[in-house]
Amino acid sequence: MAIFIGLAEDMIAFNIQRCLCVPLAHISISSDYQFLIPYLALCVRGSYSAHSPDQLRIIGEQSEIEAPLQVIAGTDTTVASFRSVSMYIISNPRVYAKVQAEIDAAQLTSSIVTDAEARNLPYLQACIKEGMRIFPPVTGLFSKRVPVGGDTIHGKLIPEGTEIAYAAWDFYKDPKVFGPDAEIFRPERWLEASDEQLAAMTRVTDLVFGYGKYQCLGKPIALLELGKALGEVSTNCF
Ligand code: HEM
Repeated sequence: MAIFIGLAEDMIAFNIQRCLCVPLAHISISSDYQFLIPYLALCVRGSYSAHSPDQLRIIGEQSEIEAPLQVIAGTDTTVASFRSVSMYIISNPRVYAKVQAEIDAAQLTSSIVTDAEARNLPYLQACIKEGMRIFPPVTGLFSKRVPVGGDTIHGKLIPEGTEIAYAAWDFYKDPKVFGPDAEIFRPERWLEASDEQLAAMTRVTDLVFGYGKYQCLGKPIALLELGKALGEVSTNCF
């Protein structure tokens, strides 16, 4: 457990470091990182003006809101996924044995598992998807408001101002999409599914990251971090 808490802290430190652009050694972790906000805000402003000087300007209060959003959105979510996937792997002897066999067969050569190596471990990737499905790290309603004039969804008129949300917990356990054993953690379902079923499963599980223009901006980073971190602990710690 100490390893997981340590790793979770390191991931948080890594994200803060990425925002602040300072060496990791200079950061001490605190559950209250309010004191970092002015620095993070400066960083966000610098980053915006460096990358899009003409199109996008971000000012005072906006950057102070944006800065902690990046840290909160990018850490707790990823760490929750890391912990749940790890828990499902190490508490399930069949899954654990398969992860280990896959790692052994891959004969990884890098000193730290690379993104490309992790993506080439299909069973581990299936564990990540299955872990995020069975224990979604984000289950807030994230409601969206129907715009002025209302909207029509599947032929049904939804009046303007209606708040529409989705029940994530139910979506991810739908037997029509994931099969009759949808309630249990079984990574194999991702490797056995027909193309059609796989597409449906992926479409639903992707909702973990939100949808459309609201979709998580950090999705590629989160998947990279999870693959590398879980590949690494599966190789050296489990
Ligand atoms: C497993 C990890 C993650 C999950 C499950 C997740 C989930 C989500 C969800 C569901 C939303 C959309 C909320 C909505 O509908 O309004 C969101 C938004 C966002 N996420 Fe993530 N996230 C993860 C990791 C990350 C990471 C690593 C970063 C940054 C490095 C990040 C940055 C953001 C940002 C900036 C937004 C707001 C996008 C906007 O302005 O609309 N997330 N995330």
